[in-house]
Amino acid sequence: MKNIKVIFEPGMIEVEVPYGSRVISAIEKAGIAFELPCGGKGICGKCGVKILEGASAPTETEKKLLGEKIKDGWRLACQSRIFAVSRIFIESGAPSYHKILTSKFLCEKFEKNPSFMKKDFHIPSITLENPVSLQEQIAFHLGLDTESVNPFIFRNSSLCRETEFTGIFYNGRLISIENRGAKNHMYGIGFDLGTTTMVLTVFDLEECREIVTIVRPNPQIKFGDDVISRIDFSLKGDGLNKLNAVIVDEINKMIDVAVRTAGIKNQNIYQFVLSGNTVMEHIFLKLPLNSMSRIPFNPVIKGPVETTATRTNLHINPEGIVFVFPVLGGFVGGDTAGLILATGIHRSEKIQMGIDIGTNGEIVIGNRDGIIATSTAAGPAFEGGRISCGMRAQTGAMEKCWFSDGSIRWQVIGGNNLKGICGSGLVDVISLMRQYGIIGEAGRFEENSESELKKYMRKQDGGYIFVFEPDQADSVYITQKDIREFQAAKAAIRSGIEILMRIEGVKPEDIESVYLAGALGNFVSVENIKKLKMLPDFPAERIIPSGNTSLASTLLFLCDSRLKHEFSEIARKTKTVELSRYTDFQTVFTEFLFF
Ligand code: FES
Repeated sequence: MKNIKVIFEPGMIEVEVPYGSRVISAIEKAGIAFELPCGGKGICGKCGVKILEGASAPTETEKKLLGEKIKDGWRLACQSRIFAVSRIFIESGAPSYHKILTSKFLCEKFEKNPSFMKKDFHIPSITLENPVSLQEQIAFHLGLDTESVNPFIFRNSSLCRETEFTGIFYNGRLISIENRGAKNHMYGIGFDLGTTTMVLTVFDLEECREIVTIVRPNPQIKFGDDVISRIDFSLKGDGLNKLNAVIVDEINKMIDVAVRTAGIKNQNIYQFVLSGNTVMEHIFLKLPLNSMSRIPFNPVIKGPVETTATRTNLHINPEGIVFVFPVLGGFVGGDTAGLILATGIHRSEKIQMGIDIGTNGEIVIGNRDGIIATSTAAGPAFEGGRISCGMRAQTGAMEKCWFSDGSIRWQVIGGNNLKGICGSGLVDVISLMRQYGIIGEAGRFEENSESELKKYMRKQDGGYIFVFEPDQADSVYITQKDIREFQAAKAAIRSGIEILMRIEGVKPEDIESVYLAGALGNFVSVENIKKLKMLPDFPAERIIPSGNTSLASTLLFLCDSRLKHEFSEIARKTKTVELSRYTDFQTVFTEFLFF
């Protein structure tokens, strides 16, 4: 079958795909980050691309979902096929504006002390008089035990003829060699493996600085959008292998895109540090989840785990070190250990709280004398999941919304056309709807509302929806079901907070600082989440938006290897709490479903 050329703009990336391939196959081949919100089923209409040249005839699905936009060359990447040489414009092919924050300020608390170092060395040629192995010769001249020279560094046979090397040492062990004079830097990767979203940052280990960051949805979503459904899937037949394969494959694609973007080589990446919840970390390590499916929800391992790139099938230097953050207990995983590490709650004299708002909400309270932590199943609403027009916080998402001069106004990430709503936008909109009486205390649309916002209400399928651009047929909107999803998510977080505070016997005024982390934490209006009763009434100045602490902690770890020892301290000090064991959990949860 003949191949057809496809050029993607604005990056001018060129690929060839077999005649008749779907556009999405060409996008994937080009390594462009791209999302299929409905998994490519032709339901959501959100995978639009503009075909500048070579567009095929639109399908019935495309006509229905794209309407007038068809005439301007718009097609759906999951539906349209390539039959001719094509030029395609993809917004996300340009450097996309992802709303993530890696809390650089936190790095200032730590010193540079990476585990890796580089050293040039020379060895004399091996002679008949002294017929030692190359491994022994190198060890002798470096003053190391022979076992400290990794035997697999000699797999590159051309290097075996050299006598001048640059060695890469990991904690005093020679793990890799390069030709002397190769001026490659050493790189590491910090990885936040979220249930819904994954974030990868390439980090220069010598200069301790971030090089490039890539964000992708977790591809396991097709097997279920929360950890419970992933556990269920893992227990069926080959489920665990499938979950592991899709995640490793996607991580490798992210690494390949990052490497290409940064202009570096995979073999110069020597460390990969991963932080995620218990279930995600077990799947990454391909460890069974049977015991996480029933009380007392015990993980197979707590870790931390240190292993190799070869063992985990990652596209970095084969001898590179993979480090997975420790699980603290039950569903309280490595990302919570990362939250504590990054915020320094375990060293604080005063009581502090950390809240990581994501598909799994993690909450910790404590200080240097002890910490309690829990995990609560918020669901993916804060990351745009299960919301009709929801999307992650990236180009095209409404991130803020307010009411002025009689109209709803909003701010879109990247300043482009409104495509959907991310978590912070959803909080603002629901807060406005509640404030202006469009919805009541129980979250129901108020049919008889006299609100100034009434003009945004539309009847649909026997109920109401809230439409942002009432004059447009394809406007972004909020449904009653979306409000219910939001209520369940915010009640899950709030009940976790309430129960931990009751266990510790602390009141809001006893807490010195509240670190708000995660997909939502950094960009949300604190005033609005307090109005919606998602947080207790903490004084605003005590709430510290802290960004993605899960990712930030992996970068801190790359920067300062001594933090490995802090994990044992964090594990020793932290007691985990399983919320379902508390008899009043259901009552508290129901109470906070209300606004
Ligand atoms: S991904 Fe939903 S229509 Fe293409």
